[in-house]
Amino acid sequence: MRVVGGPSSTDLARKVSEVLQLQMVKTRTKRFPDGEFYFKFEDDIRGEDLLVVQSLYPPQDKHLMELFIILHTCRDLGAREIIAFIPYLAYSRQDKRYLKGECLSSAVVSEILQKLGVSTLYTVDVHNEDVLKKYKIPTFNLTASPAIAKYISGKGLNRPFVVAPDSEELAIKRAEAAARAIGAQYDYFVKRRNRHTGEIETFTKSMDVEGRDVIIIDDIISTGKTAANAASILKGMGARKVYVGVTHALMMGNAAEILQEAGVEEVIGTDSVSNRFAKVSVAPVLAEAVKNR
Ligand code: R5P
Repeated sequence: MRVVGGPSSTDLARKVSEVLQLQMVKTRTKRFPDGEFYFKFEDDIRGEDLLVVQSLYPPQDKHLMELFIILHTCRDLGAREIIAFIPYLAYSRQDKRYLKGECLSSAVVSEILQKLGVSTLYTVDVHNEDVLKKYKIPTFNLTASPAIAKYISGKGLNRPFVVAPDSEELAIKRAEAAARAIGAQYDYFVKRRNRHTGEIETFTKSMDVEGRDVIIIDDIISTGKTAANAASILKGMGARKVYVGVTHALMMGNAAEILQEAGVEEVIGTDSVSNRFAKVSVAPVLAEAVKNR
């Protein structure tokens, strides 16, 4: 098997190839003057098993089109098996019609990936696992929460405590996994989102955080409001330092300022998103799963 690095995840692909001790396939990419994407394999890939690495963080549609072109080329040029590693699986929030007449964007992504020959999909902390149930191929939802918690714990925390900013089953599972990794306790907040306005409300809940360092664990930071609400409540209850550990630090707009104003010490993300918050790699998380498959 060899690794194909997509343009959104070139560094991550290199790390994946290192931890799995696999060769990278040589490729060439460019953008035409009108913005269209060009992709070329410099190596022969006929009959080979390929591990394609491309995360779908914003701009999602640009990264999706790059992925589609790469996968089509893999299939067309005779790759034997195509395994996709897509740490941030975009469009995973719209898995059902919450309002009449809505699109099913997660189904668009799953149908095209399968049509283009992906035989196995690995992703990390997908927003909603129901999205993966629609696939007819094997899918694996890995979690980066323990790795993130260990990284933050390495800063030398005072009586650490882990918190999920909402009560979704997956959010609680992530907090539990993070807490277990560092031998800490955990709890969760209850949050409500207005489907029409998008506004969120986090309900206050008493937690034993006085003088302690708290890690808020989440899958995505988009606007930052969910984690900021939780951080403000925690600081109000006397938490010493509040860290935000997040798998996909999308950090849209002024999310960083919102979190800083809420008293957040530091945002720790992964290389699922290529930005300044990427401090933990998801490459070892994938490597562990691939070795055990
Ligand atoms: C919500 O269910 C997710 O787990 C995240 O908490 C949410 O997507 C974060 O979004 P934002 O940063 O915009 O509040």
